[in-house]
Amino acid sequence: MVNLKTVQTHNASLKTLAPGLVAVFVGGTSGIGLSTAREFVRNTRSPHVYLIGRNEAEANKLISELGILNPESQTTFIKSDISLLKNVDKACQEISAKEKKVNLLFMTAGYFTFNGRQETSEGLDQKFSLHYYARARFIKNLLPLLDTAANNRDENANLSRVVSVLDPHASVRALGAGALNYSDLSLKNSFSLKNCAAHASAMNNFYMEKLAKSHPGTSFIHAYPSAVKTGVARGLDPISSKVWVALTSLMKPFMVDLGESGERHLYASTAKVFAAMKETADYAAVGSDGTKGSGSYWLNWDDDVLPFSKKLAKLREEGAGEKIVQHTEEVFKKVCEEKQTYP
Ligand SMILES: NC(=O)c1ccc[n+]([C@@H]2O[C@H](COP(=O)([O-])OP(=O)(O)OC[C@H]3O[C@@H](n4cnc5c(N)ncnc54)[C@H](OP(=O)(O)O)[C@@H]3O)[C@@H](O)[C@H]2O)c1
Repeated sequence: MVNLKTVQTHNASLKTLAPGLVAVFVGGTSGIGLSTAREFVRNTRSPHVYLIGRNEAEANKLISELGILNPESQTTFIKSDISLLKNVDKACQEISAKEKKVNLLFMTAGYFTFNGRQETSEGLDQKFSLHYYARARFIKNLLPLLDTAANNRDENANLSRVVSVLDPHASVRALGAGALNYSDLSLKNSFSLKNCAAHASAMNNFYMEKLAKSHPGTSFIHAYPSAVKTGVARGLDPISSKVWVALTSLMKPFMVDLGESGERHLYASTAKVFAAMKETADYAAVGSDGTKGSGSYWLNWDDDVLPFSKKLAKLREEGAGEKIVQHTEEVFKKVCEEKQTYP
């Protein structure tokens, strides 16, 4: 566990970085995304922050709040339902038109539900899209700007990092099999909440692990937040909400405070120990494939690297990374280029 004091001391040191860092918070209007955005704005000089979500009233309040927290900061809200990939493309076009580089892409958009598959007009499940496909599309679209940030020769200005908050071990927790249905990766015919959690988790893991190799100046982090009191269950029906309240009150002693979660996610987003591959740093943490400083890290809520999982190693050996990248490209081609539904 990284001590909270260490996290806070590190975060305070971010004022020594160059002014004008650019961060995009996909899901920045609530919960862990917002808490991390607050810490980013508090601890950096003249940052430019993008908050992406649907809740405009909340975003307007946040723009004022963040402006008071750091009067040199600039916050832009992009109102968008990003469960549709066409909307992800629009949001990224807006950012790319305004910015030459992005230093941090931080993604938390998602929700908790007991309901089954809910298809979007693009043929993907809505939750699965938010937890994986939309995130992968943000990464793909913003990689040129992340590359530009990574290529800055000033080491106080070359932060280039992607963070996806979900759960790298969802498919292997609680004796999970850690298996993927390669013939139906989008779960069109084999959807269940369990399969959705397992696929979204492993697809985040291996999509980013692959990109860490082809984009060695950027580091890629998939982080598990543990249980945090946020708005994640706000869409539940009244009965499910009661179940949720009962569950969370039982879990209360084990829950992570929302403010601490933001501080810890800012650490994950900026600490040098999660070095990009090209840095070949001796101080780097062990990456997701077991190699020190690989540029891809799977983290626990406390900023420690998650323990090695034989089941996830088996997925890597059977070519999960290649299959997931190929599938994701097929989805992007069908939905984003050919403007059809998938499959
Ligand atoms: N909190 C936990 O205990 C916990 C535990 C494990 C994993 N997680 C995962 O961690 C991530 C962060 O969740 P959180 O707890 O911070 O939840 P949260 O407070 O509900 O925040 C979710 C964010 O996603 C945005 N969002 C949701 N649907 C969207 C859509 N269709 N289009 C655009 N933005 C959308 C919301 O913005 P708008 O409302 O403005 O649209 C909000 O900013 C989620 O993926 C969740 O599954 C959370």
